[in-house]
Amino acid sequence: MKSNIVLIGFMGVGKGRTARALAEKTGMFAVDCDDLIESFSNMKVREIFSEFGEPRFRELEQQVAVWLQKQVRNTIISTGGGFFNVPNIRKIGKVVYLHADFNQILETIYAHPNAKKKIKKRPLLNDLAKARTLHESRLPLYRNVADIEIQVGGKTVEQISNAIIKKARLK
Ligand code: S3P
Repeated sequence: MKSNIVLIGFMGVGKGRTARALAEKTGMFAVDCDDLIESFSNMKVREIFSEFGEPRFRELEQQVAVWLQKQVRNTIISTGGGFFNVPNIRKIGKVVYLHADFNQILETIYAHPNAKKKIKKRPLLNDLAKARTLHESRLPLYRNVADIEIQVGGKTVEQISNAIIKKARLK
């Protein structure tokens, strides 16, 4: 059984679309942690934050992390931007950090036709000054848990997924 690939990185770096491209290219399945949380709680991430607060969301992330470690193999796992903090992150699989500068992330989000929706569904992106500080403070933490770092700024999903396949030896 091959180990999982766990994509971590800040909101908007493209973890979900990279996971789907990797799944297509490798024949592996892909799952997304926020989707798992939403189906498990039958609530949207935005609703969990507004009704119960961030601590409840982080608890759900930890539950998902325990399940992934026990039950999931040979899968591409895209995560929410704060998921890297779960205690067992490195036991879930090979951790791949997708890095982009904060300004590059904003450019990508605003260039998207659904930019407003993308921001609305991410409570921690609503205050840009706070989001910039969060990006800065998380950078060393992402690097600390990652096995592999991939620069994604200015690159296509095709280039990013090919770089991961090569570095993680997926094919
Ligand atoms: C979060 C990122 C979001 C989502 C939640 C919290 C974070 O996921 O999990 O809003 O703490 O950075 P994306 O990285 O997919 O936007």
